[in-house]
Amino acid sequence: MELKCRLRRLRQTPQIRNLVREHTVSVNDLIYPLFVIEGENIKEEIKSMPNIYQYSVDRLDEELQKIKLAGVQAVLLFGIPKVKDEIGSEAWNEEGVVARAIRFIKSKYPELVVIADICLCEYTSHGHCGVIKDGQILNDESLPLLAKMSVTLAKAGADIVAPSDMMDGRIGYIRDALDANNLTNVAIMAYSAKFASAYYGPFRDAAHSAPQFGDRKSYQMDPANAREALRELESDIAEGADYIMVKPALAYLDLVKLAYDSFNYPVVTYNVSGEYAMVKATAKIGLIDEKRIVMENMIAMKRAGAKLIITYHALDVAKWLKEDI
Ligand code: PBG
Ligand code: ZN
Repeated sequence: MELKCRLRRLRQTPQIRNLVREHTVSVNDLIYPLFVIEGENIKEEIKSMPNIYQYSVDRLDEELQKIKLAGVQAVLLFGIPKVKDEIGSEAWNEEGVVARAIRFIKSKYPELVVIADICLCEYTSHGHCGVIKDGQILNDESLPLLAKMSVTLAKAGADIVAPSDMMDGRIGYIRDALDANNLTNVAIMAYSAKFASAYYGPFRDAAHSAPQFGDRKSYQMDPANAREALRELESDIAEGADYIMVKPALAYLDLVKLAYDSFNYPVVTYNVSGEYAMVKATAKIGLIDEKRIVMENMIAMKRAGAKLIITYHALDVAKWLKEDI
């Protein structure tokens, strides 16, 4: 046999495979979402997301210790307030649950990178991501509210704000508001290409943020559109985004790749609640090997060009990475 091309030479032993491996996952790539809820002495598991909990600020340290032990360096905070209203006022309350959580984290773990999710849907009585008039989600009227929330949480100590609302012009508006408040070092991680996705189902239980009427299709993207995703990414960059995001992750890896190939910005992807729930549910009934499936998903996101992965699996991945050294 005169086979010229023998690719199997590159796969002969674990050591050779290590030599030629093109991509890796590091604990430095992981961002872990945290849900903080108003109230006291609360640690409540989210039914659709096994092993993910809502914590009141007084119980949060338990989770923070695990994060530190795992070596995960960044968290993304979501808040669940006690009271909601039409415009989401709790979102910019300096004594609100996320502001208090950030101050607590920064007092005890100053090195932990704190990213604050910026959106109104957890705080509005109607569950939409912007303000409403006559059944319409208003764009320009929502911007000052998102900016107030950003400034409040940045003042509380957030290193990065991450607007997930999908209103037009929010990145520039928030950048200006941060700068006007001497918060020039606070970065913006833009949920740029965020799709109207069924994969967010479990999150809406977790954050009590399901829209009370209609859906999010007038502001989140149509899953059919890739060229439009490029325009979203472009406009967020033009407005001053420091990080760009594609969300969800696994069904949208073509767009992660497009973002990586098109722009010299750190690409983030959000391995969302539905993706997590599907893995956990299937593993639980013994149909898949959880560790291998999760690590394969992680490497797929890295290979597509994600630098950072927001994932509910972060603590498990960090543990598995240590085991495999
Ligand atoms: C709020 C927000 C959502 C997610 C992150 N920020 C839900 C939504 O837009 O309905 C989804 C996260 C997940 O599913 O894990 N705007
Ligand atoms: Zn929202």
